[in-house]
Amino acid sequence: MQLLGIDIGGSGIKGALVDIEKGDLATERHRIPTPQPATPEAVSDTVAEISRHFNWTGPVGCTFPAIIKGGVALSAANVDDSWIGVNAEQRIAEKTGCPTLLLNDADAAGIAEMEFGAGKGQQGTVIMLTFGTGIGSAIFIKGILVPNTEFGHMEIRGKDAELRASDKVRGDKDLSWEAWAERVTEFLNRMEHLFSPDLFIFGGGVSKKYKKFFEFLKTETKVVPAELRNHAGIIGAAMAAKALVEVQNK
Ligand code: BGC
Repeated sequence: MQLLGIDIGGSGIKGALVDIEKGDLATERHRIPTPQPATPEAVSDTVAEISRHFNWTGPVGCTFPAIIKGGVALSAANVDDSWIGVNAEQRIAEKTGCPTLLLNDADAAGIAEMEFGAGKGQQGTVIMLTFGTGIGSAIFIKGILVPNTEFGHMEIRGKDAELRASDKVRGDKDLSWEAWAERVTEFLNRMEHLFSPDLFIFGGGVSKKYKKFFEFLKTETKVVPAELRNHAGIIGAAMAAKALVEVQNK
């Protein structure tokens, strides 16, 4: 079955049709730069443009970089504040004319990695982290997601972890791989202490350069790079949208 997956990020909004049984893109990815300011109106117009690009009328799964409950954005760490309290799921459904399911971006990436990537077959406690502008998180217990964890906002040395250890901070502060990995280690150690995970999956764009910094990470828990790279969000979003097909068929 093919469904449309869309990944809303700070710099780009990307979509593709996804073969949800194979966990793979069924078309080329279509990317449009995120409109600035990234207001609900402008972003949902862009999402609609992507669905038109694919002449799509079926269910859409869409990620968003914030806490999403019942379709409503409840936070806005790296997006326009005007999103808070907006039923973004409904807004996008209206603009696209398609039944829509909205979920947190790291949760979507985690869903895809657990089924088709680095977490495949993992039964214990798995923590997926995405390092980008912020730090996204998803935790799975025996393969089941506990949605909307926000470990990137865990306080470390008086600051949100993502303000110390995101990939953006690495770039902004021009940190060496080793210096950045030390900050990441502190964050991972804190999570080990609190959750005793069996595996960390390291995601986000920077994960493709894992050979440059994995050797500097000091954890008891195994850390593996994400395998689906920047397609994980799109694939996970489309997988989550399958719930809409099941509702339609009832
Ligand atoms: C947000 C999360 C999001 C993460 C990655 C954080 O700032 O609070 O909801 O998953 O960034 O985009």
